[in-house]
Amino acid sequence: MIDDAFMAAAATLSVPEMGTDATAPMLYWLIRTTRPQHVLEVGMGYTTPFLAQALHDNAVAVELERSRLGDPDAAELQPMAHPAYYEQPYRPRLVCIDRMTDPTSSAPRAMKVLDELGLSGLCTVLEGDLTGSGEAVRQELGLVDFAWIDTWDTLAFVREYWELINPAGGMLAVHYLMTYPQGRAVLHYIQSLAGPEGGLELTNLREPHRFGQNSTTLIRRIRDYTDPEDLRPQGTANDPASVLGLPAGGRP
Ligand SMILES: C[S@@+](CC[C@H](N)C(=O)[O-])C[C@H]1O[C@@H](n2cnc3c(N)ncnc32)[C@H](O)[C@@H]1O
Repeated sequence: MIDDAFMAAAATLSVPEMGTDATAPMLYWLIRTTRPQHVLEVGMGYTTPFLAQALHDNAVAVELERSRLGDPDAAELQPMAHPAYYEQPYRPRLVCIDRMTDPTSSAPRAMKVLDELGLSGLCTVLEGDLTGSGEAVRQELGLVDFAWIDTWDTLAFVREYWELINPAGGMLAVHYLMTYPQGRAVLHYIQSLAGPEGGLELTNLREPHRFGQNSTTLIRRIRDYTDPEDLRPQGTANDPASVLGLPAGGRP
């Protein structure tokens, strides 16, 4: 979990100019919320332990929730547990790519911090350029459920790795594409990948207090994603269908 000991260890990797002080915990909570299993980071440093800790904490949570499924005394643990979710194993993996040549980056020290935190077991580092590493990532992870990209080479990344991002809901979080022309061009390129069937969702999170390193863009591939329907029992209190004047089930 993110406690004082974790924050103290992660702080040794902090480089304020990288602008990930708020983004790193946001990535932690994105991963805690969406529970991806195959995670890729390009551009290591302060963010790396947050990604690894989130995967570790997810695995602990899944095991605990699974062990208490159906136990009425455990309702506070996961009161809306969906049993089908727990039929699949949760085996998280983190692959990190970094060429380790940037003298301002804390990337070369990140694995030591993961070691100290007991998180290195779920992480594989591919030292080298992202260009040409796609096949190694595919061998390590197969499809990627969540990728965090923090380099100037997002365009090269998207060109080589787009098909590795899970088309059934895989998410790409990209640092700093807003408020400068090259970033906007990359954003336009990513939007063009949606295709005629509209295969992606995109949200820009802008940090208004910064002139640089001031955004994270979330891109979710949904080409093969199907929303599960009617998971929530109908006829319960506050049913939105009745508020909208729709029949039970929500369809006109
Ligand atoms: C902005 S820093 C990453 C900051 C880190 N996420 C943090 O929160 O501190 C960028 C990192 O990406 C790496 N990098 C940049 N371009 C790369 C490329 N084409 N292939 C692999 N690594 C790259 C650099 O070595 C550097 O460590």
